This record gives sequence, C-alpha cells and structure tokens, in this order.
Amino acid sequence: MRLVVTGAAGFLGSHLTDRLLAEGHSVVGIDSLITGTRRNLAHLRAEPRFAFLERDVSEPIEIEGEIEGVFHLASPASPVDYLRFPIQTLKAGALGTRNALGLARASGARLLLASTSEVYGDPLVHPQPETYWGNVNPVGPRSVYDEAKRFAEAITMAYHREYGVDTRIVRIFNTYGPRMRPDDGRVVSNFVVQALRGEPLTVYGDGSQSRSFCYVSDLVEGIWRLFNADVHAPVNLGNPGEYTIRMLSDLVLAATDSASTVEVRPLPEDDPRMRSPDISLASERLDWTPRVPLEAGLKRTVEYFREVLPGTATE
Ligand SMILES: NC(=O)c1ccc[n+]([C@@H]2O[C@H](COP(=O)([O-])OP(=O)(O)OC[C@H]3O[C@@H](n4cnc5c(N)ncnc54)[C@H](O)[C@@H]3O)[C@@H](O)[C@H]2O)c1
Repeated sequence: MRLVVTGAAGFLGSHLTDRLLAEGHSVVGIDSLITGTRRNLAHLRAEPRFAFLERDVSEPIEIEGEIEGVFHLASPASPVDYLRFPIQTLKAGALGTRNALGLARASGARLLLASTSEVYGDPLVHPQPETYWGNVNPVGPRSVYDEAKRFAEAITMAYHREYGVDTRIVRIFNTYGPRMRPDDGRVVSNFVVQALRGEPLTVYGDGSQSRSFCYVSDLVEGIWRLFNADVHAPVNLGNPGEYTIRMLSDLVLAATDSASTVEVRPLPEDDPRMRSPDISLASERLDWTPRVPLEAGLKRTVEYFREVLPGTATE
C-alpha cells in the first residue's frame, strides 16, 4: 500500500513510519517540523519507499497518485508544546483533521486519527472506558489540545457517517520511548534527562497523581492492528499499569543509577489526578495487550538519551 503519515517527523510518527515500511508498504511523510525533527527520519534518507513533504496540514493537502491509507498524527502533543503553540494546536486538530479527511475522501483511502486520553479531561470515572464522555474544562489553558481532539473525533465520525469514509480513531494514553525530545516537558523524558544530568527531578504537586506509561513499540502494534480491524468507534490504547509520579521518579533513578534529588513544584492548572486506560475493547477487538514492562522500556529510553545527550554516556 501507499500510505500517508502526518506528523511523520515526530516521536510516534517516525516509529509508525518505520513499522509501515517494515510491513513492506510505501510511506509519504508530511510534517511542518513545528515540534518534530528531521533527525527522527535521518535513517530513511536512502529508503526509496519513503518520501518526505515539509507541509502544514492546516493548509489543504494534495498528493499525487494513489493513496490507500492516511494516519493523521500531526499535532503539537506535549503540554509544553501545546501551551506554547495554542492556535497552531487548535488548527492542527480542526483544519488539519478536516484536510486529512478530505485527502482520504478524495483518494478513497482509510483514515486513522490519533486522538488522546485528554478527551477524558480530569476524569470522574476510573479507569476510563471509551463510553465515558469526559470531564473537560472547555476554556482552560489545556482546552486548546483537549477540545481540538474532541472536535477532531467529531468531524472524523461525521465524515464516516455522511461520506462513508472508512475511519479509525485511537485514543492514545501516555506513551514513551526513544526519539522523545529531551525538552518536550513530558514526565518520562523530563525525569530521564534530569537524572542523567544529575539535576533534581521536578515533581509537580505531591507526586501522588497517577499515570500509565505505554512503551512505543506496543502502541505502534496497537495502531497497526486497529488500522486493519473493522472498528469505527474510538479505541483506547495504553498500558493499564498505574504508577504514581513518585513511583516513576524512583524507577528512573534506579534505571539511570543517578544520585539526583527530587524537587517539588506547584501542580499546573487542570492537571488530571488519575489517568489509566480501560483496554477491554482493544483486547477484545484487536487481541492487543501491551507487552513491554515499564522497567524494560525505561532501560531502552535511558540508552537512547545517553546517546543523544552530550556528556551523559557511560564508558
Ligand atoms: N506521545 C503520547 O503519549 C501521545 C498521547 C496521546 C496522543 N498523542 C497523539 O499522537 C500524535 C503524535 O504525538 P507525538 O507524541 O509523536 O508528538 P510529536 O510532537 O513528537 O509529533 C507530532 C508531529 O506533528 C508535527 N506537526 C504538528 N502540527 C503540524 C501541522 N500543522 N502540520 C504538519 N505537521 C505538524 C510536528 O512537527 C511533529 O513532528 C499527536 O496527534 C498526539 O496528539 C500522543
């Protein structure tokens, strides 16, 4: 197949691109490089089945030739990024999704939307099944991301119902692994980078808030299975293992063999207390369950950051 990946130069987009190429397909990667980097695709420079277009998906997308699938991942994704680029985030979720759907419709291609657990906001139901409608502040600072993704889901379902576009929606929970940016502000990359540099690990609030952490290869496997399954309703993908932020900081200190201390900072506005996916639907319909334990995934992530951060490699 010839497949399009928007956000291909990002963390997840680049891993997904690798997987699609490994499955024998051709990939056209689109990215504006607003939060991604060409470095994530540098290993594909000589790959004839990969082409890269530097484009903003908020502008209409035209691609010559046949396309069988569109994976729409383009959007600033970490809190640091979407608070820095609020309007671009809303545009990527709204106009970008409309344009990706337009491309899929014109090509008769299947479209998979990368949505997020943030559609559940600060959830009042725990863990979160897909049937939970969420608890989102529509005007808070995080709303630029949460509401853009909620709109993206709504327009995806509307294109499916109105125009018969063959759509998939994945609600991704916290995912981590190599190729995260050292400065993207997500908790795993923050902690690993701080620990490797011997700086204090910054914990927001008392660290009792919980999160789930899915290793990137598990997530990509789930995305590929969903793309190939006949499921149009949203599907959660994430690792249901639940860890408090304090537990995570201890695991990172152990994985890096670091003597860093922990520094407590005030909790940001609308920070969710708990976040954990109910993955019954993915398990039932996709026969999918995450395989990589947090300790093993952290080890591979630490190895990556040791390679890319100056002065942190071991002998
Ligand atoms: N990583 C996670 O834990 C997670 C969790 C939930 C949802 N997601 C979703 O998965 C997708 C990928 O996230 P990621 O973690 O790889 O983030 P990322 O920032 O590494 O990747 C996003 C990519 O999209 C590109 N992009 C942003 N706006 C664009 C635009 N208008 N036009 C073209 N390219 C644009 C960026 O340059 C970047 O390369 C996002 O849609 C995100 O919302 C990720």
